[in-house]
Amino acid sequence: MKQAPPGVGPKFAQVVVLFGATGDLSRRKLLPGLFHLARAGYIPGCRVIGVSLDEMDADGFRSFAQGALDEFGSRKASDTQLKAFRDILDYVPLSAGAEALRAAVDRAEASLGVECRRLHYLSVPPRAALPAIRLLAEAGLAEGARVVMEKPFGVDLASAVRLNEDVHTVFSEDQIFRIDHFLGKEAAQNILAFRFANGLFEPIWNRQFIDHVQIDVPETLGLGKRAGFYEATGAYKDMVVTHLFQILGFVAMEAPTSLEPKPITEEKNKVFRSMLPLDPKDVVRGQYSGYRAEDGVDPESDVETFIALKCHIDNWRWAGVPFYLRTGKRMAEGSRIISIAFREPPKSMFPVGSGVGAQGPDHLTFDLADASKMSLSFYGKRPGPGMRLDKLSLQFAMKDTGLADDVLEAYERLILDAMRGDHTLFTAAEGIESLWAASQPLLEAPPPVRLYEPGSWGPKSIHQLIAPHAWRLPFERAWRPQAATER
Ligand code: BG6
Repeated sequence: MKQAPPGVGPKFAQVVVLFGATGDLSRRKLLPGLFHLARAGYIPGCRVIGVSLDEMDADGFRSFAQGALDEFGSRKASDTQLKAFRDILDYVPLSAGAEALRAAVDRAEASLGVECRRLHYLSVPPRAALPAIRLLAEAGLAEGARVVMEKPFGVDLASAVRLNEDVHTVFSEDQIFRIDHFLGKEAAQNILAFRFANGLFEPIWNRQFIDHVQIDVPETLGLGKRAGFYEATGAYKDMVVTHLFQILGFVAMEAPTSLEPKPITEEKNKVFRSMLPLDPKDVVRGQYSGYRAEDGVDPESDVETFIALKCHIDNWRWAGVPFYLRTGKRMAEGSRIISIAFREPPKSMFPVGSGVGAQGPDHLTFDLADASKMSLSFYGKRPGPGMRLDKLSLQFAMKDTGLADDVLEAYERLILDAMRGDHTLFTAAEGIESLWAASQPLLEAPPPVRLYEPGSWGPKSIHQLIAPHAWRLPFERAWRPQAATER
């Protein structure tokens, strides 16, 4: 396995206090992610102290972490590496209180024996975030520390403002890292590279050349054991106001003056400030049949498991260009794409039946999977006599570079950035408040939920929403087969 290149890790040893250590996210992503970072040499000095409501001791937590790695670790690990990771873990049940937590952090720092920084990771539901922050303050662990917070950051504008105010009583904004793991995806960052490192596309990245944009994230997954969380959240707050809007921010923002946190945040915030308030008429809320019968779900639940909407960024670059967003659970396919549809040229010069325009406009498509792909579709002449046109495409798959193993999983990347104090890929209080402000009309008057069949693409009205255009998914033409290097 490759070792981390020098200089990409944090300057100081890290003591991570992981709240919600026995929860779902921790098991699936955080513990496997910390393991990978430690093993690959990104965080040579590190201790992880798990905290949760579960009564267990350090050994119990080590076995729990081992189970998480067995189930969710995506890379092979040797016994020595696993043992080394178990040795950096400790555990404090929430019931033990502030003093016990402080003592565990002191022990961890003493065992590292060098200058350390503290990273508190709050992988807890919103109602538990403030109590965790107060506990950290009471234990004297807040000063100079960094804190990673998980969404949702409030449930509307008023609660987001209140939450930000409360958190600011203990942590200043520069200590806070609000995580949106979609921004940690390699493919999401590649949007910035693609847009701003090339002279080819940026000049046409505007309302004169772009007809509409789709950000489409259907999931085949259901709720698993998350009914409690989901009933209080729903697809809009779980996915749109967080992940999909953040991706929209990257697609729509102006060039920042540098790739530094402040200029990037400024540009994203400008996009969010220009977002027109959502019109409930431009929103389709769906719920899959059978949702209400699931464990932990209110039999009369009105929570949406699906949402599709049209929104507008009313600025000089984007006025009049609709952005269509869609996501949902138990849908036909799991996919994450951004699709840019370019304006169509006049077609009258082509003979009748040539096929020009018959397969929609030219598209630039980003697939945000971990092994990301990109495609540019265009019309070209079919070989032979006459003028028949076919839709062709240029495609790039990151796997073809042979570097796909270097990809850090989104949480790994973001944990490492938080340890380094780099806010570039995190979300700021102001941007979140603007998004809640634009959401207000929808939150106040949500359209009724419409049923859809599990395994479908959502309620039928999604087609009216996007007409006269059409949803790109399911794709009419598949991605080209994998290149030899991928096999
Ligand atoms: C999470 C949402 O933030 O993102 C989940 O809470 C969703 O509901 C998940 O399934 C999707 O993330 P990814 O990285 O698997 O696309």
